Amino acid sequence: LNYTEPYRPQYHFSPARNWMNDPSGLLYHNGTYHLFFQYNPAGIEWGNMSWGHATSRDLTHWEERPVALLARGYPDNVTEMYFTGSAVADVNNTSGFGVEGKIPLVAMYTSSYPVSQDLPSGKHVRAEQQSQSIAYSLDEGETWTRYDAENPVIHNPPSPYAAEFENFRDPFVFWHDDTQKWISVTVLAAIHKIAIWSSDNLKEWSFVSEFGPYNAVGGVWECPNMFQMPVKGHPSAKKWVMVLGLNPGGPPGTVGSGTQYFIGDFNGTTFTADPASTYPGNKTANWMDWGPDFYAAASYNGLPNGDVVQIGWMNNWQYGAMIPTSPWRSAMSVPRQLSLSVVNEKVTLLQQPHHSWRSVADHHTLKRDWKFVSKGSTRLHSPGKAFKIDLSFSDHDYDDSLAAKFAIAVRASSDFKQETLIGYNFTSKEVFVDRRNSGDVSFDKTFASLYHAPLSASADKRINLQIFVDWSSVEVLGGQGEVSLTTQVFPEGNATEARLVSDGVTRNVRLQINGMSSAH
Ligand code: FRU
Repeated sequence: LNYTEPYRPQYHFSPARNWMNDPSGLLYHNGTYHLFFQYNPAGIEWGNMSWGHATSRDLTHWEERPVALLARGYPDNVTEMYFTGSAVADVNNTSGFGVEGKIPLVAMYTSSYPVSQDLPSGKHVRAEQQSQSIAYSLDEGETWTRYDAENPVIHNPPSPYAAEFENFRDPFVFWHDDTQKWISVTVLAAIHKIAIWSSDNLKEWSFVSEFGPYNAVGGVWECPNMFQMPVKGHPSAKKWVMVLGLNPGGPPGTVGSGTQYFIGDFNGTTFTADPASTYPGNKTANWMDWGPDFYAAASYNGLPNGDVVQIGWMNNWQYGAMIPTSPWRSAMSVPRQLSLSVVNEKVTLLQQPHHSWRSVADHHTLKRDWKFVSKGSTRLHSPGKAFKIDLSFSDHDYDDSLAAKFAIAVRASSDFKQETLIGYNFTSKEVFVDRRNSGDVSFDKTFASLYHAPLSASADKRINLQIFVDWSSVEVLGGQGEVSLTTQVFPEGNATEARLVSDGVTRNVRLQINGMSSAH
């Protein structure tokens, strides 16, 4: 494996070959980060959904492992596919799957049945039914045994919603310490509801409550994720966060998939969103990411110290199957460390890159300060194709002498006809990513677009941006991480130039660029 094909991510996870979508089971156990993911073992389009597997000791260097859950009947006669789910370490052996003191890892996933059938458990499922099943591993996630004796363990949607059996999926399971129970959150995708379940042993589940619809309800709701965190500066205040995907129905200016979140409380049965987190009557949402390419985000189970780290699928159902990569399709985002803080008087989810990116950062850095960047274009030394930028500058109220827009252009061709711009609009107070001329945009008519997110200046009146650039992606984290903008780009291999572009004066600019080497 050389990982030098055009567009091959250098420090983001991508499978060596074939199609990948959602992270499905992020589990930290015994010093190893497991990443399971939606995977087609047979090609670079969605199909034969199975769980691929990769492991890492640091969240940046990944080793791909054998397929963990191979679609039943693959390749000739697939009768059950394994859709998105999650995984836990059953340390107290509540499931009884553990033998000889071995801790069972338990995966909970959606069984998607293309045809009606009678299952080994004696249960009957209809064509296109989606139900929730479990499997366990006693060898650190290498091989898995499906619980065929009872699967699916959640056979049907809760009774008032029995009609939703074709759109009932994506169990995210976690241990709820206060009630000493397992909790699983699932979606009733088409009616924009979350169904919450509780269990003592991961095998028998009771429906305990529902949540939704609220806020953004475009398309379907998918891939719920839930976790608890303290609020910075308010040591006694712990809040629960519910994250979920919408498809289609992302943030303003995007087409296709998007991710929103809610902040609230959870008492072991019911999730209640804070009034400040919901917007009755309009379609506003708390957007997790304002770009087009961050979806199905899931958090790690099993992290110490209550840490919350999330990974998102860096693609979009709008054009996911058309992106010009081969022999693989899709990459994961940079892992993001999450926290809660009060920003503009509101409890807000913050994202920072998980520190392990530093393990591939080059010593070589470009560092420059400008008191003023004048109007026009300022060439920079070529940073190459994979690097991390810290860019910061003074905010100002626009006037004739000062810039209305300031940006850094990356992955630019030598004539700058091709470039991706990441910048700030001082009049609308928005950070933006412009991929209209970013390279190959031909495969989908919505791809060549400009994306934007609201960002106000920090307390010291500066705009702070962290930007991760790889061979086919740009991720922007703004401020303290209260905005995130994730976009794929497909520039030519020799598009390695960079410049600053300002349409007036921009003041007190600080720039640092770290080269990023390959994690392969
Ligand atoms: C989201 C999704 C999930 C589903 C999976 C199938 O991207 O549609 O709802 O479980 O993909 O691969």
